[in-house]
Amino acid sequence: MFSHRTNWRLSPNALTRAIEDMRASGQEILDLTVSNPTEAGIHPDPEIVLAALANPEAMRYDPQPRGLLEARQAVCHYYRESHDIFDLAPERLLLTTSTSEAYSYVFRLLCNPGEEILVPKPSYPLFEFLAGLADVKPVPYPLLYDHGWQIDFDSLYKAATRQSRAVIAVHPNNPTGSYVSASEAAALNAFSLDYGLALIVDEVFLDYAHDGAPRNSFVTNADALTFTLSGVSKISALPQMKLAWVATSGPQEAVTEAGARLEIIADTQSELESQWVLEYPIQLLLQRQQAGDRIERGRETKQCHTALLQIDFEAVSDSMRRS
Ligand SMILES: Cc1ncc(COP(=O)(O)O)c(C=O)c1O
Repeated sequence: MFSHRTNWRLSPNALTRAIEDMRASGQEILDLTVSNPTEAGIHPDPEIVLAALANPEAMRYDPQPRGLLEARQAVCHYYRESHDIFDLAPERLLLTTSTSEAYSYVFRLLCNPGEEILVPKPSYPLFEFLAGLADVKPVPYPLLYDHGWQIDFDSLYKAATRQSRAVIAVHPNNPTGSYVSASEAAALNAFSLDYGLALIVDEVFLDYAHDGAPRNSFVTNADALTFTLSGVSKISALPQMKLAWVATSGPQEAVTEAGARLEIIADTQSELESQWVLEYPIQLLLQRQQAGDRIERGRETKQCHTALLQIDFEAVSDSMRRS
């Protein structure tokens, strides 16, 4: 009766069961997998957030396939203020109701059923589900720990097949906290160009550097066709207001064509799922993005990074395999 793509294991895995047991026995757990800012001691200013939601403009229904121009301009403003990026035009942005929705648009844009996306490992566990629901096969490529986490390019080249359509990089990665270095970015561009692949870069945690210093974004990556995903869910520490975006960059002709196709995907979907009402207050929601916040978050994440380095990832994935 049900589709193969929903043949998920529905019972909790060994790790979840172990956590439940420990909680039930009253033990305190430092859960390093928490990626929900509201549970990680990061509290947005309620005055700013609630004031933003009281914008009377939101009473007017004016959905647009790429998202309201003012909202996209607010996103450009965020990149100008926080990342010194002055050449991101609102035309290259498309708003979505979450980065998950942005992934699904980009997968549908790039892949026919059964085609492959290269995904880092370890990384965001939802890739398997997001890819499966779009009838795409996620093919892992390893990240290695050697004086810091790095992309294993030998394995990445080996993982690519004729079916590959894109490579995902998570910048910084969840759960390792590692950013894509400048030399890795150059090598990823070269790899994508060699194999005719698109680059999908997830930057939801871009502003959570452990030292608080700004890191380079891929939104203006010019070599390979690049889709950069981010949103207020993490940037503004508001996971309950998942307004997100995808920025397209790269060779001009491909960017224009991708933008036009994405617009039709969004136009079709937005009838069902639009969160356009949040597009009016996005300017205010993004205002939390201030140096002070970054440093505060840096402190929080530094503690997690330090603890993460002590995890034996092989042992964890081993126990997951056995579960
Ligand atoms: C790497 C990564 N991307 C995306 C998301 C989810 O983003 P959104 O809330 O916009 O769907 C998460 C959530 O934890 C994440 O860890």
